[in-house]
Amino acid sequence: MQRSSGKTELMKIQVLFLFLLSLLWGAISQQIQYTIPEEQAKGLRVGNLAKDLKLSVQELPARKLWVSAENFFSVSTESGDLLVNGRIDREEICGRKSECTLEFEMVAENPMNVFHVIVEIQDINDNAPRFMAKVIDLEICESALPGVKFPLDSAQDADAESNSLKIYTINPNEHFSVTMKESPDGSKYPELLLEKPLDREQQSSHQLILTAMDGGDPPLSGTTQIRIQVTDANDNAPVFSQDTYRVSLQENVPWGTSVLQVMATDQDEGVNAEITYTFLSAPTSTSLLFNLNPNTGDITTNGTLDFEKTSRYMLVVEAKDGGVHTAHCNVQIEIVDENDNAPEVTLMSFSNQIPEDSDLGTVIALFKVRDQDSGQNSLVTCYIQEEGPFKLESTSKNYYKLVIDSALDREQMAEYNVTITATDKGKPSLSTSKSVFLHITDVNDNTPVFHQASYVVHVAENNPPGASIAQVSASDPDLGPNGRVSYSIVASDLEPRALASYVSVSAQSGVVFAQRAFDHEQLRAFELTLQARDQGSPALSANVSLRVLVGDRNDNAPRVLYPALGPDGSALFDTVPRAAQPGYLVTKVVAVDADSGHNAWLSYHVLQASEPGLFSLGLRTGEVRTARALGDRDAARQRLLVAVRDGGQPPLSATATLLLVFADSLQEALPDVSERQAPADPQAELQFYLVVALALISVLFLLAVILAVALRLGRSSSSTTWGCFQTNVCSKTESGVISTYSEGTLPYSYNLCIASQSAKTEFNFPNLKPEMVPPRDLLCDDPSMDGCVSSEDPQLVYESAFASHFMLVSGKDKCVPYTVHCTKNGL
Ligand SMILES: *[C@@H]1O[C@H](CO)[C@@H](O)[C@H](O)[C@H]1NC(C)=O
Ligand SMILES: *[C@@H]1O[C@H](CO)[C@@H](O)[C@H](O)[C@H]1NC(C)=O
Ligand SMILES: *[C@@H]1O[C@H](CO)[C@@H](O)[C@H](O)[C@H]1NC(C)=O
Repeated sequence: MQRSSGKTELMKIQVLFLFLLSLLWGAISQQIQYTIPEEQAKGLRVGNLAKDLKLSVQELPARKLWVSAENFFSVSTESGDLLVNGRIDREEICGRKSECTLEFEMVAENPMNVFHVIVEIQDINDNAPRFMAKVIDLEICESALPGVKFPLDSAQDADAESNSLKIYTINPNEHFSVTMKESPDGSKYPELLLEKPLDREQQSSHQLILTAMDGGDPPLSGTTQIRIQVTDANDNAPVFSQDTYRVSLQENVPWGTSVLQVMATDQDEGVNAEITYTFLSAPTSTSLLFNLNPNTGDITTNGTLDFEKTSRYMLVVEAKDGGVHTAHCNVQIEIVDENDNAPEVTLMSFSNQIPEDSDLGTVIALFKVRDQDSGQNSLVTCYIQEEGPFKLESTSKNYYKLVIDSALDREQMAEYNVTITATDKGKPSLSTSKSVFLHITDVNDNTPVFHQASYVVHVAENNPPGASIAQVSASDPDLGPNGRVSYSIVASDLEPRALASYVSVSAQSGVVFAQRAFDHEQLRAFELTLQARDQGSPALSANVSLRVLVGDRNDNAPRVLYPALGPDGSALFDTVPRAAQPGYLVTKVVAVDADSGHNAWLSYHVLQASEPGLFSLGLRTGEVRTARALGDRDAARQRLLVAVRDGGQPPLSATATLLLVFADSLQEALPDVSERQAPADPQAELQFYLVVALALISVLFLLAVILAVALRLGRSSSSTTWGCFQTNVCSKTESGVISTYSEGTLPYSYNLCIASQSAKTEFNFPNLKPEMVPPRDLLCDDPSMDGCVSSEDPQLVYESAFASHFMLVSGKDKCVPYTVHCTKNGL
């Protein structure tokens, strides 16, 4: 443009110059007009000026023709042709003017003539429409409605008239069309019209080719690209990949375990596609238990999941995009049970004391078992750990009875610790134990048992009264009174009334005491039946026999039966024929010993002999034989002192004096004897003493009667005093009986051992020690036994351990004599 305006300026100057020249030269003769299309090749002949100006060819060189528009044209000096000299662009010269002419002067010299030449430039379609921009960028929101128009830059076509821009087109597409509009200044611009709604999510950009076409023939066209960016509108809601998410999760997974990820997508973009996830309408407890990452949709645990509390969670997750659109999905979380609960064992009822005689099947305890898990994990079996007389019975579901399965025996097992174990079937299984401690209570089911089937004791005679001679013992495994054994004598082969004077048994200890000194010579053996009895209810008892063998002691000296002493205590005599040969059996010492065995095995010894060697004495036989014939010098009367000794240890002995008279007849022998016995008349002496004694007794008796009458009348004497008197009487009466045994062997010994019953009793027995009472001294006729005992304690009541023989009469006054009565019992 700039350039063309400059040229125009130049041309004006040339025109002005030519005009001045014509004024100077006086004449512009002619005006010539040509028409050529633009853009002709250089050298193209436009027309023959010389001919048109009527110039002759011959004069031409002299006229030196030239044109003022030498840029475009030149003139041939030879032919006078007007030639195209340069590019003639109509658009350059005239712009968009519909008429375009080039006017210039042709100057001919010699003579100078100026000719006015007008060349009309005809337009040819040499310019295609052109868009200023190669690419037109447009942003259209997808929400734009059909009918919306978007004015576009127009294309330029330099050609004029019909060769200029005629129409806009775009490539065929479903969304847009283009129309041509004319602006007020007459330029034609295209307008894009939205025919159909856009969807960014389907197609986010569109590329169109806009073509501008001119009206030339052939038409030329120019194109530009329209790039349409469809901008997003929040027209899409988020969409979850699933309507419902289901997941199974083990209970007790650690905190923060990922559960699942929900995923929603939004086809929009940018903020419209930015999704945030939230829990919707879940109970607070549930939503606190799970953590939902609002950006990623990751659900993790936020706490411990306990199948036993909740086995399934239903959550609703909302996804919301940057706008207002939301979507929802369900999340269903199934909790899978784990065997995390041990069975529970609950003791419903329980009796911890069971009598040992309880029946089989007796229920001891009732248990309830429970497992909070489910399925296999909750199946519980119960068993007893220890071997024992118990078993478990399942009653109803989950209930178990502990019952007695076999007989109980407290004596074998008094306590049981029964451990009941409940195990579930989970993997690994869990178990719980519960112990119950049972005490078996005693029942009197055991009879006392003696440690021996029978007892035999040997007791040497003359045992101290009160001595323990045996002990029986029985045991009873029962408890308490059921096992407390007391002993008693229930039978014996002794006379029942005499039994108590022989033996007693300590109820507690089973020690059998001799109540008197036994005498082998009187009683060699006896048998007792002892009973052990417990204190159960009912009581159980057992019997055992105790055989007491009374052993012999050498307590009896031999007693010489022959030769017997004469009435005066002198020995009788035996006669020996003078002519007795050696070995003649003179006599035989006969002695007996009440003892037995060795103690009664007698041996005979000569202690003294007036003529030693004359007689021999059979050691065992006691036979006295002549050892040699009587010599002349031997006295006729011989005396032998013979000792009879028993085999006891130490031995006891008796002596016998043998008077042996060598005589051929009794008469010969007698004088000797009577001679010696004459001085003393034993018969007369005896009679005298008898009379005196009788008189004395009469006097004493009389005195006694008088005294008794006097006392009774005076009431001044107590009955006990009488007792004392009676004792004496009694004693005297009995003495006759006892005298039968006065030769040494006592029938019985008596036990005055009162202390054996009560050790604390203080008992003063005149002249006697209470425990060791020699039986001899206790005889009723013993002078030392004045029959009175006294005690410090008047309250004391004494028992007589030998009631069959004696009786103690207790009195109440201090120092009141106690009287011993001899009764006739047993003697
Ligand atoms: C996770 O649990 C804790 C305590 O149990 C609670 O304070 C917190 O709010 C929970 N978090 C979520 C996201 O629920
Ligand atoms: C019973 O046995 C169990 C297990 O054997 C033990 O734990 C408990 O201490 C016992 N109970 C008694 C009272 O001995
Ligand atoms: C024991 O002996 C007594 C007396 O002989 C008798 O009554 C009782 O039945 C006996 N008891 C037993 C268990 O034999």
